[in-house]
Amino acid sequence: MNDNTQEQRDAFEQIFSAEAARWHFHDTKDPLIRYLRDRRLHLALDAVRELSGVPIESLSVLLVCGGVGGEATFFANHGFTDVTNTDFSQNALNVCERRDPRLKTRLLNAEAMDLEDGSYDLVVVQDGLHHLPRPALGLNEMIRVARKAVIVLEPHTGFVAKAIGTEWERHGDAVNFVFRWNRESFRQVILSQLLEAPLSIRVIRLWDHNSVIRKVVSKLGGGALSLFAAKAIYALLTPFNGMGNNFIGVLVKHPDAISKP
Ligand SMILES: C[S@@+](CC[C@H](N)C(=O)[O-])C[C@H]1O[C@@H](n2cnc3c(N)ncnc32)[C@H](O)[C@@H]1O
Repeated sequence: MNDNTQEQRDAFEQIFSAEAARWHFHDTKDPLIRYLRDRRLHLALDAVRELSGVPIESLSVLLVCGGVGGEATFFANHGFTDVTNTDFSQNALNVCERRDPRLKTRLLNAEAMDLEDGSYDLVVVQDGLHHLPRPALGLNEMIRVARKAVIVLEPHTGFVAKAIGTEWERHGDAVNFVFRWNRESFRQVILSQLLEAPLSIRVIRLWDHNSVIRKVVSKLGGGALSLFAAKAIYALLTPFNGMGNNFIGVLVKHPDAISKP
């Protein structure tokens, strides 16, 4: 059986032992970086709001594979008051606690979370499932511990990914297959677990590569002009989102979802 978890954990512990300053981009208010980094999360939250039809800020949030807590900080900055960041790297969680004292942390393996069913209202992963030896198992765990909704931000499968994307990612001795999602794989994992339970699924495919876009637009000085250029590039790419490299998957569980406190 493929289980690199210990080797991967060692590799990530190493990465997260670096200076905390390395992760300052999670905290910067620079409008360009905020736009580039938070764009997918805003789209996902809009989808949860739309599918549930009510304000969602009172929901408890669990971040899976949350690293040093960048996404968790996003939720805390957007009105969520009960936000827990989890990862299997204690070093990452130590940085998280120093960075943002508003956040709770918990050391968890995403493939086997030591949590009761339905422990958190909203369970979120960004760029984490594709690091797992068994990404579908990770999604099954998220669905299990989510009382109301799940958000998945991961790479989307497709010909561009096949042509130029990384297929095998290596961290030291640990190798993992880079699993990419699409509407059908997301839907099938959900339905095979939740069967005929009432639920809503929303999938958005789009182009998103914040490091490349940032490099390109920073040539314009990094200020308002760069921000305008970044927005313009993504607007120009919108008609081609059907071939995009990124996947936003949202599951809302009904009818006991969100509308009841
Ligand atoms: C690419 S980083 C993404 C971090 C963060 N979500 C972000 O986008 O900035 C992947 C994260 O997944 C974590 N991770 C990998 N395998 C894991 C596992 N089995 N259980 C929990 N966390 C894991 C790593 O420690 C790392 O923090």
